[in-house]
Amino acid sequence: MNAGNLFLHLLLLPLFFTITIQSSPKSSLSPPHFVNSLRQNSSNETIDIPPPEYFEVTLPLPTDDATPACSVDVLCDSFGNTSDATGVNVSYTPPNATCQWSHAVLHYQAEYKGEQYGSIAGVWIDGVELLRTSTAQPSDDGVMWNVRKDVTRYSSIFTRQNQTLSVKVENLGNGEFTGVYQVNVSFLFYSDEAVRFPVSVVSGESEAQPLNRKLISVKTHENKDKLGLDRVLNSLYPYEKPADLIVPISGALDEEHWFRIHDESDVQTTNVQICPATYKAVLELYVSFHGDDEFWYMNPPDSYIQANNLHTGKTHGTYREVLVTIDGKLVGTVIPFPVIPPNGINPLFWKPVVSIGAFDLPSYDIDLTPFLGLLSDNKNHSIALQVANGISYWLVDANLHLWLDDSNVQAIVKYDDPSVDIKNEVEFKGLDGEFETELERKTKATGWVQSTSGLRKTKITQEITFENKLKIKYGGTTKELEQKIKTKTKIKMTNGKGESIGKIEMEKVYPLTITIQSQPLYGKNTTLTTTSIVQRRSESFSNKKSSISRALKHTQNCTGSMLVNGNSVIGGSVENHQNYELTNEAGCYSRKVDVVDGEVVADERVLVCVD
Ligand SMILES: *[C@@H]1O[C@H](CO)[C@@H](O)[C@H](O)[C@H]1NC(C)=O
Ligand SMILES: *[C@@H]1O[C@H](CO)[C@@H](O)[C@H](O)[C@H]1NC(C)=O
Ligand SMILES: *[C@@H]1O[C@H](CO)[C@@H](O)[C@H](O)[C@H]1NC(C)=O
Ligand SMILES: *[C@@H]1O[C@H](CO)[C@@H](O)[C@H](O)[C@H]1NC(C)=O
Ligand SMILES: *[C@@H]1O[C@H](CO)[C@@H](O)[C@H](O)[C@H]1NC(C)=O
Ligand SMILES: *[C@@H]1O[C@H](CO)[C@@H](O)[C@H](O)[C@H]1NC(C)=O
Ligand SMILES: *[C@@H]1O[C@H](CO)[C@@H](O)[C@H](O)[C@H]1NC(C)=O
Ligand SMILES: *[C@@H]1O[C@H](CO)[C@@H](O)[C@H](O)[C@H]1NC(C)=O
Ligand SMILES: *[C@@H]1O[C@H](CO)[C@@H](O)[C@H](O)[C@H]1NC(C)=O
Ligand SMILES: *[C@@H]1O[C@H](CO)[C@@H](O)[C@H](O)[C@H]1NC(C)=O
Repeated sequence: MNAGNLFLHLLLLPLFFTITIQSSPKSSLSPPHFVNSLRQNSSNETIDIPPPEYFEVTLPLPTDDATPACSVDVLCDSFGNTSDATGVNVSYTPPNATCQWSHAVLHYQAEYKGEQYGSIAGVWIDGVELLRTSTAQPSDDGVMWNVRKDVTRYSSIFTRQNQTLSVKVENLGNGEFTGVYQVNVSFLFYSDEAVRFPVSVVSGESEAQPLNRKLISVKTHENKDKLGLDRVLNSLYPYEKPADLIVPISGALDEEHWFRIHDESDVQTTNVQICPATYKAVLELYVSFHGDDEFWYMNPPDSYIQANNLHTGKTHGTYREVLVTIDGKLVGTVIPFPVIPPNGINPLFWKPVVSIGAFDLPSYDIDLTPFLGLLSDNKNHSIALQVANGISYWLVDANLHLWLDDSNVQAIVKYDDPSVDIKNEVEFKGLDGEFETELERKTKATGWVQSTSGLRKTKITQEITFENKLKIKYGGTTKELEQKIKTKTKIKMTNGKGESIGKIEMEKVYPLTITIQSQPLYGKNTTLTTTSIVQRRSESFSNKKSSISRALKHTQNCTGSMLVNGNSVIGGSVENHQNYELTNEAGCYSRKVDVVDGEVVADERVLVCVD
């Protein structure tokens, strides 16, 4: 077994030129000391304790305390210990037709035992992706985790007969998948009445970590409850109402469901023929990055790698962009939130609280409504996904959500080719260097759709900026990253009389700073690596026309060090502080979790708005 490869791989990322790696595939990895200490008491006996539960700090679902109207257990299986990649197919049974429901929740329970490889998994029904989730980094006792996700937006597929649910797990290590992955998938269906505004969530003890929990104050919003409910539950624009039809833009059903993109010339296309009654279309993109692009935002430029004669595949600088085209025309782009995998940078950071987005990777919506003029002519069109400047490999696919009218619509589109401005500055001397990448992309499209509800004009403007500054210092022993991804989208909707019927503004800001310093100790074999990560996911939404607004701010601040001997992490000391805040016009929710050396030392949930 070569558990060592995980850490090997990690250390190679920032320090490919400073650490001498003993890359014997047979070498084994000593787990960090505080993982060991959990397994044994002072006597010699091994204790059979259940695997620790890891979790992501996120918003509890408004349905968490409620009793579902009905539920469907689809999968209860274990697999693995076989080949490189693995998965299962099972038939999906819709809920009983007598069950009255309006909200759906996917419950994904997983347990992993085995080698300390990373892996990534996806869940699909007939090729429509519902969840992308990373595997937590197992301790010797294994690891378990639970993901509950509101999947109301996929409602139209849950009632269809004869469908297949697939779970696929991709091994990200470079050996056999010798671990055993146990997964249960169920769907919980709730009626409107059962759903409560998140204020009530506080009383529920549904989550783990009953430590030091304080409830400072609970604002009650009884009169606002009903008002807030719809706005919080329905994930707002663009899924105020679930689509009537969802078309997978993904690999063939009998192969893999995601497209494996190896380089920038790798263009993955799907032909779709959409119903001419479509009056609204949204492409929802799922994306994760692996292999040499796992930390694409820290890859040095090729000129630096060549000049220093470095042997690494982590190349091509730091610009990456997922491009979506229709019949070759660029209609939207995404620079994804850099989700740090549960073994990333310093694996000790992510126990038991994983990084932002690790268990429920964000998906990205591209509103194609203005482009219906290109699509709704009853002909085949090719929708293609690619990764600009990408290297091996990215796992990308998409769901095309379609809303249908009673009769055919007429649509026209007017748009300018998106403009892009990319600047690169590369300066280096030997192994010390400073690299800057800046991007500014502007997209503008206007579409008119004539449907039974009249003429509607939709104008979308989007501006994406990307700033990345990477410094390598002190003979390559220190790496410093400062990055900011910002996406600003404005949508104006007007009716046939030119009256405004919606004015939406959305902003996503993803700043990230990472510092990695390494220092050899006691001769060549032992290295002290000090790392820090400060990352934020800020997303705000407002509709000025209906005065709806909400803002999410989730930050993580991780600092610590690890001592690496040969291939083994022999010790370390880490802190992970996470702060989650969601504010909308009806209230706020905040949760603050502090982790020191793998122990949750504080976990506070508060429902007061900090003004
Ligand atoms: C160690 O754990 C075993 C099994 O749980 C228990 O029987 C034993 O008493 C423990 N010993 C000590 C010293 O705590
Ligand atoms: C502790 O475990 C080792 C290996 O299983 C065994 O050889 C040794 O006798 C044990 N010692 C005691 C005190 O039980
Ligand atoms: C559906 O629900 C009804 C009423 O609860 C029940 O009588 C019936 O047996 C259920 N059907 C199935 C297939 O579970
Ligand atoms: C899956 O469900 C079975 C049966 O309820 C349970 O024994 C098992 O622990 C569950 N597995 C996970 C990973 O939650
Ligand atoms: C994987 O399979 C091998 C051989 O069948 C077995 O020895 C090993 O214990 C299995 N690993 C796990 C984690 O179940
Ligand atoms: C489901 O499949 C079965 C057999 O494959 C078929 O008889 C049945 O008509 C199908 N039902 C639907 C709703 O397509
Ligand atoms: C899932 O089903 C497809 C065919 O429907 C098959 O090609 C694929 O190998 C199956 N995957 C697994 C993991 O069984
Ligand atoms: C559209 O594409 C599908 C599959 O890609 C093909 O079977 C079908 O014949 C095409 N239809 C037209 C009108 O080109
Ligand atoms: C992160 O945490 C460290 C100490 O743990 C603190 O000194 C630093 O100011 C924090 N940074 C941010 C941006 O919160
Ligand atoms: C380095 O560590 C490896 C594994 O821990 C060991 O086998 C090797 O002898 C060490 N080399 C030196 C020079 O200390």
